[in-house]
Amino acid sequence: MREQVERLLEQARQQLEQASRASEVRDVRTRYLGRRGEITGLLRQMSSVAPEQRPLVGQMVNQAKEQMEALVERRLKALESEEMDKRLADEKIDITLPGLPAGPGTGHVLVTAMKRIEDIFLGMGFSIAEGPEIESDDYNFIKLNIPPDHPARDMQDTFYVDAEHVLRTHTSPVQLRAMLERAPQVPLRVIAPGRVYRRDPVDATHLPNFTQVEGLAVDRNITFGDLKGVLEEFARSFFDELTVIRMRPSYFPFTEPSAEVDVSCTVCMGEGCRVCGHSGWLEVLGAGMVHPQVLENGGYDPGAFTGFAFGMGVERLTMLKYGIDDLRHYYQNDQKFLRQFRSL
Ligand code: PHE
Repeated sequence: MREQVERLLEQARQQLEQASRASEVRDVRTRYLGRRGEITGLLRQMSSVAPEQRPLVGQMVNQAKEQMEALVERRLKALESEEMDKRLADEKIDITLPGLPAGPGTGHVLVTAMKRIEDIFLGMGFSIAEGPEIESDDYNFIKLNIPPDHPARDMQDTFYVDAEHVLRTHTSPVQLRAMLERAPQVPLRVIAPGRVYRRDPVDATHLPNFTQVEGLAVDRNITFGDLKGVLEEFARSFFDELTVIRMRPSYFPFTEPSAEVDVSCTVCMGEGCRVCGHSGWLEVLGAGMVHPQVLENGGYDPGAFTGFAFGMGVERLTMLKYGIDDLRHYYQNDQKFLRQFRSL
């Protein structure tokens, strides 16, 4: 019995030494110490040992079992820590590698487009006028012939700050501010770029917050032909010589007559696509001759002066110019989108 125990102990020791993975050590443990293992087997044979020898033999086998358990434990620890070291080495992160470069920022494409629009009108003799984004109901609506309950409010009725103030729904109130500042001097030629706010849903062609450029000219003998000439000149400068515009009769309370101005859709070249609602045209402008009442509200004698006005959507103009197919791109802060316009 003693020899047998020693032989098993020696065998196990060798196998443990040869084991190169923790899983092999566990196999050795099962082989000798498991429920059907060799050592366990010896303990079961105790019944065949002479009763007076049992205590001695039992002690011997138990000692061997404890020794083997200790050996297994030691080998297991050694191999596990070896394996951990290896994994740590393999998965090491080189923190000395350079990071991702964050290049210099650039102007947003909308800002660039706005500057371009301003340049074109400055070149035609307009100057820049400004007005507040929190506008009085009086300027935003009433002085533009939109009294309370006028149906034209339905399309714009929107973000009121208090009973008399609203986030301006268009840049047209700047028309009045500019007139009241200059009247009765002529010529008055201004553009007013800025943000406007409406109760619009967010989709590919609408946002509740967008940008307009208003235009206003007041002088003696200004005609609808002047309006058309200025807008055509603008469209050709902003897009290219081949751009076509069309004017459709329309209605605005503050102009008479009024027109909607469309530009040929440059995303689909007039074929019809999602952006232009499959019509080939994109509405970019409202325009018309300044209503006599509005001239008067601005301090000009409608018997002596006439004027034209227009209001354009900068987001839409910019979409057309660069083939951008969704308004939401402007505000999603996606570097891949924004960087395309870096060199403009
Ligand atoms: N203010 C109008 C709008 O936002 C556009 C417009 C401006 C129409 C000037 C005519 C004259 O829809």
